[in-house]
Amino acid sequence: MAALALLPLAMAGCRGYKPADPPEQPIAFYHNVHAGDNKIPCAYCHYTADRSPDAGIPSVQLCVGCHVPGSSAPTALRGQAQLAFPKVKDNGRDSAWYKEGQKLVNYWKNGQGIPWVRIHKIPEHAKFPHYTHVNAGLQCQTCHGPVQEMKEMYQFSSLRMGWCIDCHRGEMPLSPQEEASVRQRSSFIQRISALRQAGGDTRALQERFPNQRASTDCMVCHY
Ligand code: HEC
Ligand code: HEC
Ligand code: HEC
Ligand code: HEC
Ligand code: HEC
Repeated sequence: MAALALLPLAMAGCRGYKPADPPEQPIAFYHNVHAGDNKIPCAYCHYTADRSPDAGIPSVQLCVGCHVPGSSAPTALRGQAQLAFPKVKDNGRDSAWYKEGQKLVNYWKNGQGIPWVRIHKIPEHAKFPHYTHVNAGLQCQTCHGPVQEMKEMYQFSSLRMGWCIDCHRGEMPLSPQEEASVRQRSSFIQRISALRQAGGDTRALQERFPNQRASTDCMVCHY
C-alpha cells in the first residue's frame, strides 16, 4: 500500500511542465531540415519504432548513405570520403552547414559512432514500449510535439506518470483519426468488448473512465 500512497505525488508531476533547453549535440543535426523541408519520414531513421520497445537512433552508415557519394564502397576507400552537399549553399545562406557535415564525414572516416546525447528517458522502474503505441495508430508528434519544425530536438512532453495515465484513461484528447484507430486496435478495448459480448459485467471497468484506451494496472508499466 505504500506505493499507492505515493500515487497523488506522481500524478501531480504532469502539471506545469516546461521543456528544458536542448543539450549540445556532437553535430548540429536539424529535424526541421530533414523531417520538415526534405520530408524524410520519421520511420526512415527511427526504423525500429513499430517493432521494438526503442525507436532507435540511426547509425552513421544511414547518414552517409545520403551524404557521402559512394559510401557503400569498401572501408579502405573511406579516407577519400567527400560530403555531397556544397560548401556554400546556392543562396549563400549558411556555410555552417558545411562545417557540421564535415564532422559527419570525419566520424565516418574514423569508423566511429556519433555520441548523440540522449534526451528522453523514463526511470528504470518503468517501461515504455514504442511498438505498442505506434501500432495502435498514435502519431510520433502526439507525444514528441512538432518535431518537423524543431531545429534542435527537445523534450516536448513531461513523460511523467500522470501524463501516461491521462491518455490511458482516455482523458487526453487525440485527433479523430488517432482516436478511431485506437478504438479499433487497442487490445485493452478489444478485451472489454469481448467480455461484454460474452455477457460479462464490465461496469466496474467502464464506470469511471468510459473512454479508457489502455490498461492502468501498475504492473503493466512497472517492473
Ligand atoms: C534523417 C534521420 C532522421 C529523421 C528523418 C528523423 N530523425 Fe529523429 N533523430 C535523428 C537523430 C540523428 C537523432 C539524435 C540527435 C538529436 O537528438 O537531434 C534523433 C533524435 C530524435 C528524438 C530524441 C531522441 C532522444 O535522445 O531522446 C526524437 C523524439 C525523434 N528524433 C523523433 C523524430 C520524429 C518524430 C521524426 C519525424 C517527424 C524524426 N525524428 C525524424 C534522426 C532522424
Ligand atoms: C534520406 C537522406 C538523408 C539522410 C538519411 C540524412 N540526411 Fe542529412 N540532409 C539531407 C538533406 C536533403 C539535407 C539538406 C541539404 C541541402 O539543403 O543542401 C541534409 C542536411 C544535413 C545537414 C545540414 C543541415 C543540418 O541539419 O544541420 C547536416 C549537418 C546533416 N544533414 C547531417 C546528417 C546526419 C548526422 C544524418 C544521420 C543521422 C543525416 N544527415 C541523415 C538528407 C539526409
Ligand atoms: C505514446 C507516446 C509516444 C509516441 C506515440 C512515440 N514516442 Fe518516442 N518516446 C516516448 C517516450 C515515453 C520515450 C522515452 C522512453 C524511455 O525512456 O524508455 C520516447 C523516446 C523516444 C526516442 C529516444 C529513445 C529511443 O526509443 O530510441 C526516440 C528516438 C523516439 N522516442 C522517437 C519516436 C518516433 C520516431 C515515434 C513515431 C514513430 C515515436 N517516438 C512515438 C513516447 C512516445
Ligand atoms: C497518447 C496516448 C498515450 C500515452 C501518452 C501513453 N500511452 Fe501507453 N498506450 C496507449 C495505447 C492506446 C495503448 C495500447 C493499448 C492496447 O493495445 O491494449 C498503450 C499501451 C501501453 C502499454 C502496453 C499495455 C499492455 O497491456 O500490454 C504500456 C506498458 C504503456 N502503454 C506504457 C505507457 C507509459 C509508461 C507511458 C508514459 C511514459 C504511456 N504508455 C503513455 C496510449 C498512450
Ligand atoms: C501507464 C503507465 C503507468 C502505470 C499504469 C503506472 N505507472 Fe507509476 N510511473 C510511470 C512512469 C512513466 C513513472 C516515472 C515518471 C514519474 O515519476 O512520473 C512512474 C512513477 C511512479 C512512482 C514514482 C513517483 C516519483 O515521484 O518518483 C511511483 C511510486 C509509481 N509510479 C507508482 C505506481 C502505482 C502504485 C501504480 C498503479 C496504481 C502505477 N504507478 C501505475 C508509469 C505508470
